[in-house]
Amino acid sequence: MTEFKTLRGMRDLLPEDAKMMVYVQETARKVAKLYGYKEIITPVVESYELLATKAGDEVKSRMFTFKDLGGRDVALRPEFTPSVARLVATSMRNEPKPFRIFCMGSAYRYDEPQRGRYREFWQSDFELVGTFRPEADAEILTLTDSLFQKVGLRKFGLKVGHVGILRGMLGKEKVKEKDQNAIMQLMDKKQHDDAVKLVEDAGVSKKCVEAVRELIECKGKDIVDVLNRIKELVKDYESSVAAVENLRTILELVNKSGYKIDLTVDAGFARGLEYYTGMVFEIFVPDLDIALGGGGRYDKLVELFGGEPTPAVGVAHGLDRMTLAMETQKIDFKAKEERTIIVVPIKEELKTEALKIARLLRDANMLVEVEVMGRKMTKALEDADRRKTDYAIIVGERELKEGSVVLRDLSKRDQRIVPIEKLVDEMKR
Ligand code: HAM
Repeated sequence: MTEFKTLRGMRDLLPEDAKMMVYVQETARKVAKLYGYKEIITPVVESYELLATKAGDEVKSRMFTFKDLGGRDVALRPEFTPSVARLVATSMRNEPKPFRIFCMGSAYRYDEPQRGRYREFWQSDFELVGTFRPEADAEILTLTDSLFQKVGLRKFGLKVGHVGILRGMLGKEKVKEKDQNAIMQLMDKKQHDDAVKLVEDAGVSKKCVEAVRELIECKGKDIVDVLNRIKELVKDYESSVAAVENLRTILELVNKSGYKIDLTVDAGFARGLEYYTGMVFEIFVPDLDIALGGGGRYDKLVELFGGEPTPAVGVAHGLDRMTLAMETQKIDFKAKEERTIIVVPIKEELKTEALKIARLLRDANMLVEVEVMGRKMTKALEDADRRKTDYAIIVGERELKEGSVVLRDLSKRDQRIVPIEKLVDEMKR
């Protein structure tokens, strides 16, 4: 018999991993609610053309593409933004602006598998549609901060740039859009020398090549200083200057609204996806060199799909990578969840009492298992320990006579006698 395995880059999430993933998903959903984002559900399979438009060569070449039985070119979604833009251009076109959309699910890219890089992965995606204003960009940054804070990740930082800085220069130097895209792709892959070479080959002025070379070095956490340096470098290109000022306004809004986000401005930072038109950013943690999320402004995608010109800005968080970072930062997410309880009757005859107590606790929304293997107490507790159960309620004859049970804290390994009528309150403390 063949031994079946998951396909390369695809994973099963067994209970512990699934639990962490669900915890992150629930937190993302909470953040969506807190910020007023309405959840929608879109198909996993979309037309290839929709997904490929403005995806950029990198994502495009890694799509799971196939012909369906009707001969149509289709693909598994590598991200959610095209589906949202499709909706904004069609069924949601008359929706009053702005509107906030949240979607969450699996996405597929034929990436080379490694730690934190899979072929099936999860994203939570937030899109704020219908406004050019910098408050919207700032909101996408701050909600990302809220999500990361809420799952317990402390050490993380945002790398921020603006595609308008470089595109403003290349546009004025009459570099064709196709070449601009190729340059941005190389910048995204940090192949800076090749990017500068392409800029040179595109026939731009010497001054422009020099400025691009220096721009790549322009980065740091002193936002005012970095932005001033960038502005000086691009001062001959009006739309690049406007991009710098736009970025300044967005970041000032973030800082002045009381969010303490670790921000790094990087003028040479670009993103692989081609639909971006403004601010772009990615999220990093110290122990992983891959991004935990990314996003930016895309003001032209909806009209490309036949909708009204509609500005938009959004972000997608890589949920698998977030759980990985939680593991490396040793975040005890379980402490924030409800505790798990096992009810163990000391002997056979106390089974029904155990079931009654379990029901009592479940009625109060507690997570309860009952010993069903007829094991002796020590064995049952050993098993509960192995499965990282938080509490055991031991139903014994002596205590029961006084209307009580033994409540044992399995992590602290101490126990006390609690009257059954006070059990629910005691567990809620
Ligand atoms: P993205 O940067 O391509 O942006 O993906 C967002 C996040 O998804 C990445 O930062 C990463 O955490 C996660 N991710 C991507 N590929 C993989 C993979 N192979 N394995 C594990 N995780 C992965 C977007 O998808 C845009 N749609 C974001 C956006 C929304 N821009 C505007 N609105």
